[in-house]
Amino acid sequence: MEFRSARGAVLQLLRTVAPADLPALIEWMRTTRDFDEFTQDNNDIMLKNIAEDLRNCLPLDTMLSSEHLSLRKIEQQPEPTVHVDAFLYDEDFIDSLCEEGKMSRNYCMVCGSHQTAPLGFISHSFSLVELKFIYHHVLPDLSGKVLVDVGSRLGTVLYGGYLYSSALQLYGVELNGDFCQLQEMVIKKYQFTDRVKVLHADICTQGSLLQNADVIIMNNVFEYFLDEAEQARAWECISHNVRKQGSLLVTVPSLEDSLSRLQVPPEIVNTMLCFGNLCFLRINPNQHF
Ligand SMILES: C[S@@+](CC[C@H](N)C(=O)[O-])C[C@H]1O[C@@H](n2cnc3c(N)ncnc32)[C@H](O)[C@@H]1O
Repeated sequence: MEFRSARGAVLQLLRTVAPADLPALIEWMRTTRDFDEFTQDNNDIMLKNIAEDLRNCLPLDTMLSSEHLSLRKIEQQPEPTVHVDAFLYDEDFIDSLCEEGKMSRNYCMVCGSHQTAPLGFISHSFSLVELKFIYHHVLPDLSGKVLVDVGSRLGTVLYGGYLYSSALQLYGVELNGDFCQLQEMVIKKYQFTDRVKVLHADICTQGSLLQNADVIIMNNVFEYFLDEAEQARAWECISHNVRKQGSLLVTVPSLEDSLSRLQVPPEIVNTMLCFGNLCFLRINPNQHF
C-alpha cells in the first residue's frame, strides 16, 4: 500500500474507535515501542548483531571475574541489585528471559512467602536507544571530529559512533584487558578499523588524547570500578586535560552528582563546572527516550 492510502486507512480506523478509548489509543501510538520493528535501519540491525555476538561470549550478568571491585560494589547496594547490560538485553529480551525462568525482576522479601519487591537493575552500558539519542539528538554533526569514550567496556559507544555519526576517529580507552579483546574482535569482524581504535590503558595516562578530543563521553566510568581516592585522582586528570576550546563532555550521571560524592579539591570542582570553553551536556539516566 502506498503512503497516501496507508495514511487514509489509519485515519479511517481511528474514526471507528470508541471515543472514550481514542485518547488511550493515540497515547499508545505516540509512546509504544511496538513500532520499532518497522523503523529499524541497517545500522540498528548491525548493532543488534553485535549485541548477539557479545551475549554469546559473556555470562548473563555481563560481568567478568576480574571485576572484583565492581562486583563487590553491586553486592553492597542498599537494595538487592543485579547487573543487566542494557546494550545486550533490552526490555523485551529481559521479559523473555524472565518467562524462561533465567532472570527475575523481583526478589523474595520474606523467604518462602509471596511478598516480593522489584530488584534494582544497573547497566554498565548505554542501550541502543540511548546511543541513538546521543548521536542523533545530543551531539552536533561530528564530521572531522575526534571522540573519546572513557571506559569503553563492550565498545557500544564506539560502534554507535561509527554507525550513527560521521566522527573522524572514535577512541575507546579501557582499563580491563578482557573487554579490550572483545572490542578488538567486534571492530575487526564488522570492519570498523578505519575509524575506531581501542587503547588498553588507564585514562590518567592518556593526557594528550584527552587534550585533542572534541567529544569526551563518560558513562558512569569510575564509580563502580575505582575506590574513592582513585576516582578523585581520575577526575583531577580529566579536569587538567579536557580543555580544548569548544570540546563537549557528555557525562552520566551529571558532573555535580559524580563530584559531590568524592573528596575532590574544591578548585577542581569549580574548574570542572565553570570552564568557559567547555559545554557540559548531561543526560538524565532515568529519562526514557
Ligand atoms: C560503566 S562502563 C562504561 C561503558 C561504556 N562507555 C558505555 O557507555 O556503554 C565503565 C568502564 O570504565 C572502565 N574504567 C574505569 N576506570 C577507568 C580508567 N581509569 N581508565 C579506563 N577505563 C576505566 C571500567 O573498566 C568499565 O569497563
